Amino acid sequence: MSTDSHLSKWNRRHAEAETQGSVAQVLLRNLHLLPASGKALDLACGRGANALLLAKSGLETHAWDFSDIAIERLMATAQEEGANVMAQTRDVVAAPPEADSFDVILVSFFLERTLVPHLIRALRPGGRIFYQTFVKDVYLDRGPGNSAWRLDRNELLHLFQELQIHYYREDGTVCSEPDEVSDLAMLVASRGEE
Ligand SMILES: C[S@@+](CC[C@H](N)C(=O)[O-])C[C@H]1O[C@@H](n2cnc3c(N)ncnc32)[C@H](O)[C@@H]1O
Repeated sequence: MSTDSHLSKWNRRHAEAETQGSVAQVLLRNLHLLPASGKALDLACGRGANALLLAKSGLETHAWDFSDIAIERLMATAQEEGANVMAQTRDVVAAPPEADSFDVILVSFFLERTLVPHLIRALRPGGRIFYQTFVKDVYLDRGPGNSAWRLDRNELLHLFQELQIHYYREDGTVCSEPDEVSDLAMLVASRGEE
């Protein structure tokens, strides 16, 4: 898919969506691992449910997405809710975050493997990454049909193995009754203080 048609698809989805989306489970389940202050990035933020929560948690929050519709909707919601979010239209593959720039990076339902080294470098000492996205193993009739956009077994763990892992969950195929996170891998990890 060309970048233009990929962007048009996302602009259409963001225009048609009725809400700002849901807060990522990896964040909701690990709020205690957020620092009390610092600079946070919601990468490929969509309409920004996670960015709004990060901002309300006291973090200086930046939110980037290549969809101008998503960013406009996030700015409108942030204004309505009195949340201070610095939202920017930005192609994060073409322009990843700079080195040593964030204390928290949140990635939810976005998988671009070439970005991982940039994300690790973009963490400040002690900085934390919260990441969740779909795996290939369990299919709950949601998420991308193209399996290249789904994680292999333990892949998320391996992608960030040079960091200190604080939280990892991936049910794989062992759960007898899949629940709302069974088709996800979720990770919280941090860069050492140095
Ligand atoms: C599945 S949505 C997830 C949105 C949000 N993170 C969430 O969890 O609700 C994927 C997002 O990635 C954005 N996106 C796709 N390619 C991108 C790129 N190259 N640069 C920035 N954003 C991109 C889309 O516009 C879309 O908002």
